[in-house]
Amino acid sequence: MINNRLCSLLGINYPIIQGGMVWVSDWHLASACSKAGILGTLGTGSMTHDQVKSNIDKMNELGAQPFAVNIAMLRDDADEIGKIALERGVKIFITSAGNPANIIPLLKKEGTICIHVVPSIRGAVKAEQAGADAIVCEGYEAGGHNSPYETTTMALVPQVVDAVRVPVVAAGGIADGRGIAAAMALGADGVQMGTRFIATKECNSNDNHKKIIVDAPDTGTCILGRNLNMLRVVRNKFADEMLAAEKEGADKEALLKIIGDEFNRNRAASVEGDMDKGTFQAGQSSGLVKDIVPVEQLIQRLLAEYKETVEELRARS
Ligand SMILES: Cc1cc2nc3c(=O)[nH]c(=O)nc-3n(C[C@H](O)[C@H](O)[C@H](O)COP(=O)(O)O)c2cc1C
Repeated sequence: MINNRLCSLLGINYPIIQGGMVWVSDWHLASACSKAGILGTLGTGSMTHDQVKSNIDKMNELGAQPFAVNIAMLRDDADEIGKIALERGVKIFITSAGNPANIIPLLKKEGTICIHVVPSIRGAVKAEQAGADAIVCEGYEAGGHNSPYETTTMALVPQVVDAVRVPVVAAGGIADGRGIAAAMALGADGVQMGTRFIATKECNSNDNHKKIIVDAPDTGTCILGRNLNMLRVVRNKFADEMLAAEKEGADKEALLKIIGDEFNRNRAASVEGDMDKGTFQAGQSSGLVKDIVPVEQLIQRLLAEYKETVEELRARS
């Protein structure tokens, strides 16, 4: 597998990032990923400040290097989380869901690396100008919060690659070695995967979140709240209720009433495993996920599949 400029930048063996995921990517998953030679990421979206501290402390205690802290700028206290992480010696940050122009100067210290997640060329150029060291470009296939532009990974990655000079990481819809090879063919320097990592032994999510991904068919996910804060989830009773209301033209107020507290809906899925009421965030790649495996086994499989794909393409040409 390629040891390229993304690997050098992040100090990892393979150009794969485990994406930060609210409720599911705490130290259990992130440390297993770091140990397997990729970049593990703590998703702080659902964490209290004390949880952020204890998760970073645990990563440091386990000697899990390198690892990243994901800061979703949907939170008002994003700066505060950045400061907590810096105080504890975190070196890699992945910011998302907002304009990084204010937070990057705060996080950029000697020896720190800032990566920003974008859904568009405009976002990528702005992030590069703000000082991002790499860009994660996330397409519409991805699980979780999604962009209203609806640009797919296949179309977005090469356009962003052409528009910026820093390394570009493709995200959304990638769950096996074929996907990694495809991303590399589009010019990406690496991939970020979320959905595939939920279905691992080390992921601390409720087993029902893993199971709903493994059981999902190709058409198993949908976008909820097109006019709100878009979220890709696996379809279940609650998702169907929301889709029906949206189809009937329910206004924003009515939809927000059905959702209730999004924070709690996500927790109901990922922590409590409530199959009817939870929002099981996952991407279109769910259809490719067929088993729950240890992270190390998954990484070795991804590498073998990647190699096989590249060799097959070479033989075909
Ligand atoms: C359950 C779940 C929660 C997520 N939470 C976050 C988050 O808190 N912050 C973030 O930047 N991205 C989040 N994402 C996006 C992932 O980091 C990653 O970019 C995405 O899952 C990649 O697409 P894939 O799901 O097709 O692999 C989440 C994704 C999932 C599936």
